[in-house]
Amino acid sequence: MDNHNRAGTHLQGLMRTHSCGELTKDQIGQEVTLCGWVNKSRDLGGLYFIDIRDKFGLTQLAFDEYEKELSTLKTSLESVIKVTGTVRARPENAVNKNMTTGEVEVSVKSFEVLSHANEVPFLPHGKVDATEDLKLRYRYLDLRSDRLQNLVSLRSKAMQKTRETLYAEGFTEVETPILYKTTPEGARDYIVPSRVHPGKVYALPQSPQTLKQLLMIGNTDKYFQICKCFRDEDLRADRQPEFTQIDIEISFATQEYVKNLATSIVKNLFGFDENFTVPTMPYSEAMRLYGSDKPDVRFGLEHSIVNDDVSGAGFKVFDDVIAADGLVKAFFVSKATKEFSRKEVDSLVDVVKPHGGKGVAWFKLNGEEVSGGISKFITPEVLNKLKKTTGVSEDGTFFFFADAKHSVAHACADATRRHFGKTLGLIKEGDYKFLWVNDFPLLEYDDEDGRFYACHHPFTMPKVASLDDFMSGDKEKLKNMAAEAYDLVCNGYEMGGGSLRIFDTNVQKQMFNVLGFSEAEAKQKFGFFIEALSYGTPPHAGIAFGMDRTVMLMAGTDNIRDVIAFPKTNNATDLMCSAPSPADKNQYDELGIKLLDQES
Ligand code: AMO
Ligand code: AMP
Repeated sequence: MDNHNRAGTHLQGLMRTHSCGELTKDQIGQEVTLCGWVNKSRDLGGLYFIDIRDKFGLTQLAFDEYEKELSTLKTSLESVIKVTGTVRARPENAVNKNMTTGEVEVSVKSFEVLSHANEVPFLPHGKVDATEDLKLRYRYLDLRSDRLQNLVSLRSKAMQKTRETLYAEGFTEVETPILYKTTPEGARDYIVPSRVHPGKVYALPQSPQTLKQLLMIGNTDKYFQICKCFRDEDLRADRQPEFTQIDIEISFATQEYVKNLATSIVKNLFGFDENFTVPTMPYSEAMRLYGSDKPDVRFGLEHSIVNDDVSGAGFKVFDDVIAADGLVKAFFVSKATKEFSRKEVDSLVDVVKPHGGKGVAWFKLNGEEVSGGISKFITPEVLNKLKKTTGVSEDGTFFFFADAKHSVAHACADATRRHFGKTLGLIKEGDYKFLWVNDFPLLEYDDEDGRFYACHHPFTMPKVASLDDFMSGDKEKLKNMAAEAYDLVCNGYEMGGGSLRIFDTNVQKQMFNVLGFSEAEAKQKFGFFIEALSYGTPPHAGIAFGMDRTVMLMAGTDNIRDVIAFPKTNNATDLMCSAPSPADKNQYDELGIKLLDQES
């Protein structure tokens, strides 16, 4: 990574003349001043050395020409010091070719402790010996590490490159309010009580969705913003309660434009060449082949739907699932990739259980011979059908995932495929595979609540060809309707998502109606927006990339906290400052808030 040695252009006014990662043989003989942390000190019986460290690297300081008492140099590790001295070559046997500064050292003439460090809870460099919680509590110490500084710099670079691409495309960067009103993206809102208007609240934006659409109505043409979004939802390894989006909206754009723009952004961010393209795959195809709307396509093991092949073979699990209109999926792992032991196939039940799976059926194929698992049900006729559907012509193992609920069969086959991707070493290190998934379902019907939810958000346009059906409100038709929505997927992550937007007042009103908002509720929450649509709205489309996930992918980490300077834990707390924390009583009083447990 290239943040090292890039301490700026040497504008006058810093306390140092050089950074700690900068000095080479070129500066031999020069007098220099360095500032930084004591990384290490060594006392070799009269010969005293300190390694001084800053963001840019390490420099060795030697003290054999230092005229004051060596005892004045005894400082604690992580104290901040300033030294002045002369650059000289290291003796031949002390040269370290692995460091930029490894051929030189500074012979110190003056030494000053700028800030004494008490004993630190852990040393931030080398192999850090601390739990994740301790590191989060002292995040500023952990940030001193090379690893986190490189990630902080990588994120900064990613923002710079994104802006580069978007400015070159004629985008205008606009800031939108944080104190706002509900912007539904499917999570709970974080709300901020108003002091001036007791009993009323602002909602922090889950995304600037309505605002960016209003900017289109307001003639902004091409908008972007690198903005914070706030969502009170269950957190995972790739989710934080506040996170950053590269938020984009464009007037008069088709899906093709949005995809071309996304491709340009990715190309510049990842440094791909002119030949880089992103293949498109409809949602239904992604589900059929991978059981996921964000498939990791760095490796094969594609799924097949085998209901017709195994129907009537006599295996009760499959027969019951097929009788219930369920789904039987299969995929094949060749013998050349892996020969499984009985124990290994049996343990797969633990992979599918968290996804509602009841088991994983399997059999082995050697030539024309089948063995193990459910092989007694696999007649030559069934085998031929399976081979034809799956295109299998080698020896290996077939795996099956059956469930009355299609979503469960998909999820189990997906989880096992991803498990094999990792455990069988099928993923090439440093490989990136992108996919543009489109034609998502518009709505999801929840049987328990007896209502529809928007799959993307309520501003997404139904597929233009099904607009009439949408306006008719026919429930069965609504259940199977596709949306003008798309995601950019990379290595199994949803990196970004967007859609063409509803730009007609009546269609938007119908959407709120379908989602079960009463007219009064829709008016109270979104009346201003529906009205805005009625004053001349350009057709518009957009997308938002998860900045944190993008940087995670660039950095090759699967922990979102690595790429956020001050992240929160999985239960949305900041261990460094102990947020959230109680407010003062008078703050609650001013806001007109009475806590329930204060009453008891
Ligand atoms: P969506 O909700 O799909 O779309 O979000 C867009 C992208 O933001 C990232 N993301 C998150 N990253 C970290 N933590 C989270 N909790 C989190 N939630 C989402 C993902 C996702 O792809 N307004 C629409 C965009 C649009 O239609 O233009 C929206 O927010 O990478
Ligand atoms: P059983 O009939 O329960 O002995 O299961 C026989 C085999 O079918 C075992 O390997 C189970 O793991 C597997 N199995 C059970 N339920 C399912 C299912 N829903 N989908 C795929 N395989 C299953």
